[in-house]
Amino acid sequence: MNTDTIKNRKSVRTYKEEQIPQQMMKQIQDYLDQDDNPFGVPLTFKMLDAKHDGLSSPVILGAETYVAGKYQKQKNAEIAFGYSFEKFVLYATTLGLGTVWLAATINRKAFEQAIALKEDEVMPAVTPLGFAAKKRSIRENMMRKGMKSDSRLPFEKLFFEGDFQYPLSAKQAGKWATPLEMVRLAPSATNKQPWRAVVQGNKVHFYEVKTKGYAKESTGDIQKVDVGIALCHFEIGAKEAGFTGQFVQNDPQIVTDGQTEYIATYVEG
Ligand SMILES: Cc1cc2nc3c(=O)[nH]c(=O)nc-3n(C[C@H](O)[C@H](O)[C@H](O)COP(=O)(O)O)c2cc1C
Repeated sequence: MNTDTIKNRKSVRTYKEEQIPQQMMKQIQDYLDQDDNPFGVPLTFKMLDAKHDGLSSPVILGAETYVAGKYQKQKNAEIAFGYSFEKFVLYATTLGLGTVWLAATINRKAFEQAIALKEDEVMPAVTPLGFAAKKRSIRENMMRKGMKSDSRLPFEKLFFEGDFQYPLSAKQAGKWATPLEMVRLAPSATNKQPWRAVVQGNKVHFYEVKTKGYAKESTGDIQKVDVGIALCHFEIGAKEAGFTGQFVQNDPQIVTDGQTEYIATYVEG
C-alpha cells in the first residue's frame, strides 16, 4: 500500500455479481485481525454476509460481503477508527477490491445487530467489499456529481504555515508536499474534507473543522473519523518520502475559530 494506492482508490457503489475467492477472503480476515492504530484504541472488525445478515444499502448494487467495525466509546476512538479502517480500505484496494465508506446510507439496525453492538459501543461506518462493475449505476453517477466526489479543495485552503493566517502552497510545502497531497486526496463524509494542517518546522499539526449537525449518537463525530483517515494518508505519504516521525497529541495553542479543534501532531525526527 503506497501513494499510488491512495491515488487509485475511488468509492465503488456498483459491484459485479462475482464472489471474492476463498483465498482472498482469508487474506482479508488475516489483515483485519492485525489492523491497529497509533492511538492505542481497541477496535473490532467483522466480515459480514449480506444475505445471511439481512444487510442492505439504498446506494449499493451487487455487493454480497461487507466489513463493519466498532469501538467502545473512549477518547480518540473516532480518530483511531478512521485511521485503521482506511488502512484496511487501502489494503483491499491493493487486492483489486472495491470499497466505499458508508456511515449514513445503510440499514443500520441490521448491521449493528450483525456486529453485536453493545450499549457503550459505536459502529461509525461499514464498507461493501467486491469487484467493481464496469459501469456505475445512474444513481452512483448522480451522487458523485452532487458531492463533487472527483474534486478536492485546493492545497492553500487546507494547509497553512506557522498559523491559520498563512496559506501554504504545494510549492512552498517542500518536503511536506507529498504527505499533505495524500491528505488532500482522502475520502470524507459527503466529501466535506474537514481536515486542516499547520506546518511548523519539523511538526505538522492536524485540526478538524466541524460542520454543524454532523456529530450524531449513532456514528459518533464522523468528521473526527475523516481526520483519522487523513492521518493514515499523511503517514503513508511521509513513510514513502523517507520520514520516520510519529503522531503525538500536544496542542500547540495556535489561534483557531470556534469550529476548529486540534487533533494531533506529526513530529519528524
Ligand atoms: C466517514 C465517511 C462516511 C461516508 N458515508 C457515506 C454514506 O453513508 N453513503 C455514501 O454513499 N457514501 C459515503 N461516503 C463516501 C463519500 O461520499 C466519498 O468518499 C466522497 O464523495 C469522495 O469520493 P471518493 O471516495 O470516490 O474519492 C462516506 C465517506 C466517509 C469517509
